[in-house]
Amino acid sequence: MAFEPILLRNAGNPAVHEVSGYRKAGGYEALSKALAMEPEEIIDAVKASGLRGRGGAGFPAGLKWSFIPKGSEKAKYLVCNADESEPGTFKDRILIETDPHQLIEGCAICCYAVGASTCYVYIRGEYVAPALTLERAIADAYEHGLLGEDVLGSGFALDMRVHRGAGAYICGEETGMLESLEGRRGQPRIKPPFPAIVGAFAAPTVINNVETLCNVPHIIGRGAEWFKSLGTDERNTGPKVYCISGHVERPGVYEYPIGVTLDDLIAAAGGMYRGRALKAYIPGGASAAILSDEQSGLPMDFDSLAQAGSMLGSAAVVVMDETTCLVRATLRLAKFFAHESCGQCTPCREGTNWSEMILARLEDGRGSESDIDLLQRITTNMSGTALCALADACVGPVRSLVTNFRPEVMQHVEQGCCPLPRQSIFEPGAVS
Ligand SMILES: Cc1cc2nc3c(=O)[nH]c(=O)nc-3n(C[C@H](O)[C@H](O)[C@H](O)COP(=O)(O)O)c2cc1C
Repeated sequence: MAFEPILLRNAGNPAVHEVSGYRKAGGYEALSKALAMEPEEIIDAVKASGLRGRGGAGFPAGLKWSFIPKGSEKAKYLVCNADESEPGTFKDRILIETDPHQLIEGCAICCYAVGASTCYVYIRGEYVAPALTLERAIADAYEHGLLGEDVLGSGFALDMRVHRGAGAYICGEETGMLESLEGRRGQPRIKPPFPAIVGAFAAPTVINNVETLCNVPHIIGRGAEWFKSLGTDERNTGPKVYCISGHVERPGVYEYPIGVTLDDLIAAAGGMYRGRALKAYIPGGASAAILSDEQSGLPMDFDSLAQAGSMLGSAAVVVMDETTCLVRATLRLAKFFAHESCGQCTPCREGTNWSEMILARLEDGRGSESDIDLLQRITTNMSGTALCALADACVGPVRSLVTNFRPEVMQHVEQGCCPLPRQSIFEPGAVS
């Protein structure tokens, strides 16, 4: 499927790491244009484009920006979420590593639009190379007057800093991230108040994902109508960077208009690994419900996947072939959630651990049919009852396993063991 990349257009052109190279490629023109606009016009353009957050929930970006109180002298912040903690997700790393100024430009336009004079990029601790790349690019942007006291001579002042986390899933959750940014343990806050009113350092704060902000210069530069011309419909617009991992020949990031199908993505990734058959897939990161091979023709957009009972999430697509045991795969995910639960609230702390324990029992062949019903009950009790969406993240794959793939779980019960041979990519001959 041919598509001229937009967000990844500068991948393979390291010259864009410097302001001069990025400018040669058309960079910072959108920022100049934005600084000549009224802030409200920018928010309207982002609203009109239909841009939805690329961090997981798909909340409309322009609408979020419009919640920031106007006309107050109080400090306001933008916190760019570069924690990228959802398993299977690696698009933000690539966006930062290949084109750091695209993100800086998007952040600067957002700050100007909402009246923020400080931007923090909260990046996960393991992302050492991207953090250094971004820090170098930010220093270069200061030197060229693109950040600092007087951005491009407009009178607008903007400070930008990279803040490195220590690597915790919960610090990707926006309020856990704010706690961590402020120097405390990363534990989510009760909402409301939402960060747009009481955010970083108790001030109004916009929180957006890296990819969301990278889209902004293109919306300002090429217009909302152009942006809307990409995608499935007016609620699912723009380009999308999909992360493909698992049983495909060429795992990696692939950019397409939002709404391509899994079949398209597998074809782009060189086909199924060793020509094996597709069994199931996770469309949007570890917290998305698992879908079956029969659903591979669904448009990979926010609404189509929600209608199918799953979600686009962070667009981390995990492809699983016929050799995959779905109980084992789900157990691995439950283990992750149990480990990463911050423990602050009971449904999450207990529910993630119970999910792991019961799945381990089933996978080992020590489970019974009543365990399947128990998993149904536990996941029901975890849904919407915790402070943040981490508990619901665990519910996604676990509940889809017991509802969509119950016969496979029952096989474990009836045979008293996992029906599929245990294999790993580290076994000799498993990877060519
Ligand atoms: C447990 C958990 C982890 C999350 N991790 C991330 C993350 O790593 N990156 C991200 O952008 N959003 C993450 N989110 C979503 C953020 O809370 C928030 O919705 C997002 O950063 C908003 O940006 P957007 O509107 O541009 O998508 C996470 C949410 C939860 C509940």
